[in-house]
Amino acid sequence: MGFTFFLLILTISSVVASPNPPFNQIHLLMPHSGSAGLKHPDLDCLSWRLAVEVHNIQNWKQVPGECKTYVEHYMLGEQYRKDFDIVTEEAYKYAKGLNITKDGKDIWVFDIDETSLSNLRFWASDNAAFGTIPLNITLFVKWVEEETAPAIPGALKLYKQLIELGFKIVFMTGLDEAYGEIRSKNMKYVGYTTWEKIIYNKASEGSGVVYKQAKRKELEEVFGYRIRGNVGDQWSDLLGTNPGDRTFKVPNPMYYVA
Ligand SMILES: *[C@@H]1O[C@H](CO)[C@@H](O)[C@H](O)[C@H]1NC(C)=O
Ligand SMILES: *[C@@H]1O[C@H](CO)[C@@H](O)[C@H](O)[C@H]1NC(C)=O
Ligand SMILES: [Mg+2]
Repeated sequence: MGFTFFLLILTISSVVASPNPPFNQIHLLMPHSGSAGLKHPDLDCLSWRLAVEVHNIQNWKQVPGECKTYVEHYMLGEQYRKDFDIVTEEAYKYAKGLNITKDGKDIWVFDIDETSLSNLRFWASDNAAFGTIPLNITLFVKWVEEETAPAIPGALKLYKQLIELGFKIVFMTGLDEAYGEIRSKNMKYVGYTTWEKIIYNKASEGSGVVYKQAKRKELEEVFGYRIRGNVGDQWSDLLGTNPGDRTFKVPNPMYYVA
């Protein structure tokens, strides 16, 4: 709500300011106090979130405590959904323009957690406090075992659109394969009914960027797939070798996986 208001004010002030005021009347870097509708610490938290999203801040362990309310409002309000949807809409525009061959080798890679499935119910609970406290793996596994993670609507829509266009889908997750069966069931319950492959992590294969790039390399160089697109909420889903022809980063200000 606050952020929408902020955008509205920006729009109004640019309308009022036109046409073409003399250059010396433009004070781009002079904040108009109060006009943004956001107050400290929200402004600081917004800057923090932006820096996190574009990977200027890396390897962070927890959300700053003073940003708990900000992240809560972001995740539970409309902004998260809008920020997510604009990414998947852009991905679809790109995918529509691609030349798909009929050999079944054009694939799209989806990460699972916070990309295809939402664990927000867990992260919003006191057990995770929107990432402001350390992750308790035992409690997270308990949540996974409930098999009640909903699909993220923007991702499910893109998934269906890509299948319609003729892409094969590969899901790739850092989650250990010990939870593969329950996770796959959860995926099917919420609408991800088919896939070319679903790749879980084996404990011996490391994690994060090392594991994901190795698996992507294998997909392309051993199995002969072409990764036309790749979508994930972590930079470690998208960095490294064989990233895909285009990568798409969906928002996640709650945790960082290196
Ligand atoms: C589409 O890809 C196929 C196989 O790579 C190629 O033969 C064909 O010329 C391409 N078509 C266009 C319009 O790029
Ligand atoms: C995780 O949560 C469980 C259940 O509340 C608790 O017994 C355990 O000590 C916690 N583990 C850590 C590392 O905090
Ligand atoms: Mg993820």
